[in-house]
Amino acid sequence: MKNKLIRYSFNETSKYVIQEGKKIYDNIKKNWSIYFKNNNPLNIELACGYGEHTTHFSKDNIQQNYIGVDIKGARIYKGAKELHEINSSNAVFLRTFIENIDDFFEVNTVSNILISFPDPRPKKRDIKKRLTNVGFLNKYYNLLKKNGELTLKTDDTSLFEYTIEELKKTKFKVIDINTNIHMKKLNPKFSDVKTKYEKKFIRNGLTIKLLTCTK
Ligand SMILES: C[S@@+](CC[C@H](N)C(=O)[O-])C[C@H]1O[C@@H](n2cnc3c(N)ncnc32)[C@H](O)[C@@H]1O
Repeated sequence: MKNKLIRYSFNETSKYVIQEGKKIYDNIKKNWSIYFKNNNPLNIELACGYGEHTTHFSKDNIQQNYIGVDIKGARIYKGAKELHEINSSNAVFLRTFIENIDDFFEVNTVSNILISFPDPRPKKRDIKKRLTNVGFLNKYYNLLKKNGELTLKTDDTSLFEYTIEELKKTKFKVIDINTNIHMKKLNPKFSDVKTKYEKKFIRNGLTIKLLTCTK
C-alpha cells in the first residue's frame, strides 16, 4: 500500500503521466502536437500495464510519439519512471479507461494502435468489455489515419479467434496473422519486446499470437 502511495504521488507530479486532476487531461485531445512540440506520428499502446512497448519503441524511434494507456496508476508509474530517467521527449502515459479513448484523440490522427495482452474476459456477460469487441474496434478505426495499423498481441487463443471474427464486422483489412511470434521471428518489432505478462505466459507454455489489420 505504501509502495502504491509513493507511485501515485510520483504520477501526480510527473510530466510523463497524464491523468485526471491535471489540466492537460481535459485538453490534450487537440493538443498532442503542442505537448510533444512536433507533428510526428502518434502511436498508442492500449492496456499498456508497465508500458514496456511504449518505452522500448520510443527509445528506438525518436521521430515518432508514443502514448501508453492503462487505468492502473501503479503500473503506469514504472514506465513513467523509466521515461523520467532517460529524459524522454517522445513518450507519455495516459491513465484512463480505454472506453473513453475517443475523448483523448481526434479522428484520423493516430498512426498505430497496439493492444498489448488485454484481459481475455471469457465470461459471456463481459463480451462488450473485451477490448477487441466490435464497439471498441470501431472506435479505434475512427481514430486511425488511412492505412493506420491496429495490432493485437495476446497469449489467449479464444480472444485471438474472437477478434478475427469481430474484425469481419468492421472495415478493417487483416494483413498479418502469426500464431507463434517467438518461433517464427517474422515480426521482430513485436517479438523483440517481452512484457511482464508475456514472460509469465511463455513460462506457462503459451504461445504469443499477433494480428495486424489496417484502415
Ligand atoms: C493482462 S494486463 C497486460 C499488461 C501489459 N500489456 C503486459 O503485457 O504486461 C491488462 C492490462 O489492461 C488494463 N486494462 C484492462 N481493462 C482496461 C480498460 N478498460 N481501460 C484501461 N485499462 C484497462 C489493466 O489495468 C492491465 O494493466
